[in-house]
Order: sequence, then C-alpha cells, then structure tokens
Amino acid sequence: MNKRQEHRNNRRAADDAAIAEAAEILRQGGLVAFPTETVYGLGADATDDRAVAAIFAAKGRPQFNPLIVHVPHIEAAAREVVADARARRIAARFWPGALSLVLPRRSESRVSLLCSAGLPSLAVRAPRHPVAQALLKAAGRPIAAPSANPSGAVSPTDAAHVVQGLGEAAGMILDGGPCPLGLESSILDLTGADPVLLRPGGVTREDLEAEIGPISLAGRHAAITAPGMMESHYAPRLPLRLNARAARPGEALLAFGPPPEGEAATENLSPSGDLLEAAAKLFAALHRLDRPGFTGIAVMAIPETGLGAAINDRLRRAAAPR
Ligand code: TXA
Ligand code: MG
Repeated sequence: MNKRQEHRNNRRAADDAAIAEAAEILRQGGLVAFPTETVYGLGADATDDRAVAAIFAAKGRPQFNPLIVHVPHIEAAAREVVADARARRIAARFWPGALSLVLPRRSESRVSLLCSAGLPSLAVRAPRHPVAQALLKAAGRPIAAPSANPSGAVSPTDAAHVVQGLGEAAGMILDGGPCPLGLESSILDLTGADPVLLRPGGVTREDLEAEIGPISLAGRHAAITAPGMMESHYAPRLPLRLNARAARPGEALLAFGPPPEGEAATENLSPSGDLLEAAAKLFAALHRLDRPGFTGIAVMAIPETGLGAAINDRLRRAAAPR
C-alpha cells in the first residue's frame, strides 16, 4: 500500500484529533470504519436512516441483514432495547466485550428500523476497544456497524484489510492497529424464554452458561436459526403487489419516483428515484402503510441495480405467499 493510496482512502492513525473528526463525520451522516476488539466495523449514526442505508450500499449487500448497534454501556443500550434482569446480569459480566445481545426493540427507540431489518428485535453491543469507546462517547449516539468488509468477504482484523476491501467506500478509516481478538462477537438472542446462541464468537458458550445456565445453539431451534432465515419473520399483514403501475381500489400506493399520471402516492420511497433514500425509508413506509384502512399495498417497480437489489429482495420476501 503506497502513501498516495492511503491518503486517498482516508486512513488515519486513531489519535484524539482523528477520533474527534470521525465523530463529527458520523454526526453528519457519514461512514467511519473503526477498530473494535473483535474486528473492524463500518459505522454510521444508527439513528440516521440514510446513513444506515449507506452502510449497505458501501458493503454491496444484496440483502438488508440486521445490524449490531454499538453503545458505550448498558444504560445506553437500555434506551433502545428492553434490558431485563437477565440481560443486565450478562452485560454486567461481559460488557464491554465481544458479546452482542439481541433484545426486544423499544417502541420509542430512535434507532433506524433498517438496523432491525424489519424484526421486532435489535442487536446491541458495548465494545471494549478504547478507540471504539472513545468514538462512541465523542459521537454521543449509538453507532450501527457490521464488519467492515464487502459483502461475502472475510471480516477485517486490520486497517489494511479495510483499505483493501472497501477503500474509499469506507469513508474515514480509523487505524487502531490489529484487532486483539480477530474473531467476531458472540451473538446471544435473549428475546425468548430460552437464550439462544445465534453465532459463536469471542465470548464462549461455557462462560455464558456459567452466568445464566443452559443456552441452546441456533440450528436446534428451527424457528430462529441463521440470521438470513429470520428475514421471513417480518412481513406486513396486508398483501403486497409488486411492480404495480397504479393502485387498485382500496390499495395504498407505495411509489418510487414520480407517481403515474393522475395517481397520488400514499407513500413515496423517493420522488426523485434515489435508491439510497428509498432504502432509508423502506421499513418505516411499510409499517405506516400496513393498517386496516387498506386492502393491500401496490408497490411500483424499483430498479434491480445497486441498493435496488436489497430493496427488491426485501419486497419479494414481504410479498411471498404465507
Ligand atoms: O464483532 C462483531 O460483532 C462485529 C463488530 C464490528 O461489532 N460486527 C459484526 O457485524 O460482525 P455483522 O453485521 O458482520 O454480523 C452481525 C450478525 C449478522 O449475521 C446479523 O444477521 C446478526 O448479527 N444480527 C444483527 N442484528 C440481529 C437481530 N436483531 N437478530 C438476529 N441477528 C441479528
Ligand atoms: Mg460480517
């Protein structure tokens, strides 16, 4: 990696000045790749729909997987999710650390619905890495961050991996050296009566069980299993009709771009046809339209390019017969 490329990719040693600058970029809706003790994350202000949509665009993800929302401590997490006694006990033992907890979303949470990808839950984690902690405190808001690699590639454990994988698409890259653990966080689902380990990671199942008793592994519970499968959990109650040119009587019209002549859009994902804006609005729009006053939701065609692939993937799942 020569100097010029590094400069172009905006990789900076994670000193106090760079962290302050990164926090400002986040507050203004930009992306920042930052080190955690597990792997590098590609962060955005979790409360900013457009910024979260930009994460998916940068990673080239063909689907909206739910994202882990990073917080400095359990009190900050408890503003976004319902943290019961069990969750608090686990957090007291393992946070900050390599453990993400999936908990029920609070209805008043300001976190973008894109972070939940339509699920009623949200994954939260307080990372231990001093740069991640400093960035969270300086930003003063929760940070959504998947691993900072292109979709389908291995997680980056060094700033150089982020430069190679995402380059300029990562926004600013805070270089905090190699990640001490180099393995993603464990993901523990605490939304049900029985805790389920969705992904083994930095904190072992044995250590978790020593704290709260038996934990089942995802896969033995067919209903939950791999995150990809959970996409089908959320679908609007109303039927969706895709590639609609106009609404039929009783239907709501979910438009993309200018609505057809003489038609009024009930919701418009992006009047100007901007896919980033459409991704940012998708889940909130579906939630608003899914009400008894309508017989169904007619969705105008969305191009299959860029973020359009992820938007259409979600719409097809939502439209699938149940
Ligand atoms: O160590 C880590 O966890 C790193 C650092 C940056 O925190 N992050 C990370 O994120 O590995 P990502 O997006 O690459 O993997 C997160 C996994 C995904 O498989 C996602 O589906 C799952 O967590 N996930 C996120 N929110 C979820 C939720 N509400 N319910 C179930 N699974 C969830
Ligand atoms: Mg990942």
